Amino acid sequence: MRIYLDFNATTPVHPEVCTAMQEMLRENWGNPSSTYIEGARARRAIEEAREQVAALIGANFDEILFTGSATEANNTAIHSIARANDRTRFLSSTIEHPSVDEPLAFLGEQDSKIVQIGVDEAGRLDLTALRLQVDDRTALVAVILANNEIGVVQDMSTIAEIAHRVGAHLHVDATQALGKIPVDVATLGADSLVGSAHKFYGPKGAGFLWARDGVPVAPWIRGGPQEKRRRGGTENTSGIVGLGCAAELARRELPVRSAECARLRDRLWNGIAQGVHSVCRNGSAEHVLPNTLNVEFKGAAGDLLLEMLDGEGVSVSAGAACASGSIEPSHVLSALGRTPLEARATLRFSTGLGTDEAQIDRVLALLPELVARAREVAA
Ligand SMILES: Cc1ncc(COP(=O)(O)O)c(C=O)c1O
Repeated sequence: MRIYLDFNATTPVHPEVCTAMQEMLRENWGNPSSTYIEGARARRAIEEAREQVAALIGANFDEILFTGSATEANNTAIHSIARANDRTRFLSSTIEHPSVDEPLAFLGEQDSKIVQIGVDEAGRLDLTALRLQVDDRTALVAVILANNEIGVVQDMSTIAEIAHRVGAHLHVDATQALGKIPVDVATLGADSLVGSAHKFYGPKGAGFLWARDGVPVAPWIRGGPQEKRRRGGTENTSGIVGLGCAAELARRELPVRSAECARLRDRLWNGIAQGVHSVCRNGSAEHVLPNTLNVEFKGAAGDLLLEMLDGEGVSVSAGAACASGSIEPSHVLSALGRTPLEARATLRFSTGLGTDEAQIDRVLALLPELVARAREVAA
């Protein structure tokens, strides 16, 4: 049996989600735009899913737009805000996901000014720098609620206050936070927010954008009346139902899931800190997702460590990628001040449903020997 510790990359589909999706595929395959009974049934299933997603984030159901991914939802949000605004200044952080960075960079190639606000060594946004950079030319402040690599959670309500003081829009990428910590759009002070089903035991290819009532959403994909003309194309009905079901389960089970994830993540970190010398944890240990652990094994070749763990049946992810012979550190670890070599020595572990003590203990038993070998190779 493999040991999967990469739940921030993706999650398995929950059995109840599978059942709901299979039922859609088998029994409820009508086109939701059709006016006869098959269409009406598919439409009802979509609208029920919309309510389930809205309930997960404390929103009104008619403010939810279904998309094909969080990447698409981030693109749609940024595109919409840029179109609706005379303001030309766009602020984000140095630790955003590429699905926020790249649409912003695209705006930067036109007339907009893009400013990335740095983070401190713990991965928390520099609020002083944000206060200095935000002004009445600012259209958007886009900040990731919980980072995918280090799991650090931002003080979003303070960020919202700073953005709103100058009338800027706050866009929140909550893709990693959903299902792991409570997410409530009013508490966060967000104006728009995105998520993706496959990060919380739903299917791939199903995401959503929430935009507060009154926020204009311009279509990113044109060509049909679907989603109130905000996203053309026949709906991915089974994917949407899977997303809704996953959202419902996440809302119900969140306290139990996150307590268990945190217990096992902490067991892993305590075991690593005791059993392997010269290790350090990246990012805040206080403001962090309950399931995420980012560790530097000083002096080790992380790519090799990842490969050896894979060979032993353990899946984790790396803090750096090898591109044509050179080490490309993750931009998140660079933003925290880590050097390329430090990033190369870094692995991310993320726990989830199905992780148990025996798995953690097996990884802890493997690590001392594997890290020593990965250090020899790098030396
Ligand atoms: C923080 C964050 N935002 C956006 C995405 C993109 O999600 P999707 O796979 O639905 O495009 C991811 C996925 O890794 C993510 O971690």
